[in-house]
Amino acid sequence: MRMREIRELVRPRASGLGRTSVLDRCHDMDDLRTAARRRLPRAVFDYVDGGADEEITLAANRDAFRRVCFSPRVLRDVSAPDLSTRLFGADLRSPLGLAPTGYTRMIHPDAEPAVARAAAARGLPYTLSTVATTALEDVAETGHTNLWFQLYVLKDRALTYALVSRAEAAGFHVLEVALDTAVAGHRTRDARNGFTIPPRLALRTVLDIGTRPGYWTSVLRGAPLTLANLQASDSPGQRATVAALNDLFDPAVTWDDIAELRARWPGALILKGPLGPADVRRAIEAGADGVHLSNHGGRQLDRCVSPLDLLRPAREAAGDRLALVLDSGVRHGADIAAALALGADLCMIGRPYLYGAAVGGRAGVERAVDLLVAQLRRTVQLLGVTDLTELRKHGPELVALTPSPLPHRPAGGEDGHV
Ligand code: FNR
Repeated sequence: MRMREIRELVRPRASGLGRTSVLDRCHDMDDLRTAARRRLPRAVFDYVDGGADEEITLAANRDAFRRVCFSPRVLRDVSAPDLSTRLFGADLRSPLGLAPTGYTRMIHPDAEPAVARAAAARGLPYTLSTVATTALEDVAETGHTNLWFQLYVLKDRALTYALVSRAEAAGFHVLEVALDTAVAGHRTRDARNGFTIPPRLALRTVLDIGTRPGYWTSVLRGAPLTLANLQASDSPGQRATVAALNDLFDPAVTWDDIAELRARWPGALILKGPLGPADVRRAIEAGADGVHLSNHGGRQLDRCVSPLDLLRPAREAAGDRLALVLDSGVRHGADIAAALALGADLCMIGRPYLYGAAVGGRAGVERAVDLLVAQLRRTVQLLGVTDLTELRKHGPELVALTPSPLPHRPAGGEDGHV
């Protein structure tokens, strides 16, 4: 090989600075997670990444998708796959949405508005959490027309209903009620880290500043961390430990509360949690428009069934009367293809977009979405289908679930290469 050819091979791949950015070097969710781990203080990374108790469900959510085995069709013209879909009267560019996550400002100072802008730019819905760090009116100001609001039914019902009215007035499209948080899950990593919100300057935190100056300078320059939607109230939680969230949640919520919310909310209403077929039927009776099958990404009930295993029974119970959204463990576009083939209308992600936000704010969220959508497009093409209607129609031939997870080894080793 001549010198000139070697030079060509090692030429920097990006223009401008002559080096690729960290985001460009993230080629899958493992890479993005590794980059986020390097960027965030340990306690903050663990808050995002961790699960409840022994983290059995956290791992099982991934194992569920590793049981997916595809049987593709061949000799179909797949040159222009159409990934677009329509849900609750809104057009989506891909069957993907951003799930509600609390305390985003702790992960990146641009916080929830940056996530909303990324979602709008990619034509996807974004769900704002009750425990967001930006007021819902300010997120609506981004102009994103497909915003969902996730509601926790709080002990203070007047405050709960005030949130519903505010979400309606601000133009939120969908109300999603989280039903898996009768009490806060026990996240062992948070307990071990003595994790508080906002992060306290304990000795360990001070030492962390030395190794993560970029994170700390951006957080210190940013707006203060508050539960912005609950600020007007006397609620606890302005400077609360994660465990103190328990004071907000109401363990006494019942189907009567859903009836009350149905009466108050004129738009699409979705129930979020690990609902089995009996509860799916109950949701239809209660007038819900959709069910979001979720075990909170393994952060609530450990040993909870994986949403992928709830999907077929839920679809059988619901028929076409309900939309089915699924999250918990989606890390690859192939996961989305499998979930749609098994009966889902939409997949959502939590941690993947937070890893992206940690690394690059809005650009990082867009990177996470772009990776998943590119993987989904390729999977659909290799499966030999041209659009999502076909994917659903031929789902039973295209996807089987093996009894145990297929063997897996991360490309490039456990730590990726970022
Ligand atoms: C969450 N999730 C969540 N859900 C919810 O209804 N309200 C909330 O405030 C939060 N907060 C939250 C914070 C963080 C850091 C994470 C990671 C998750 C759960 C979220 O909506 C979603 O169900 C899961 O994140 C999906 O699983 P994956 O994609 O993270 O595996």
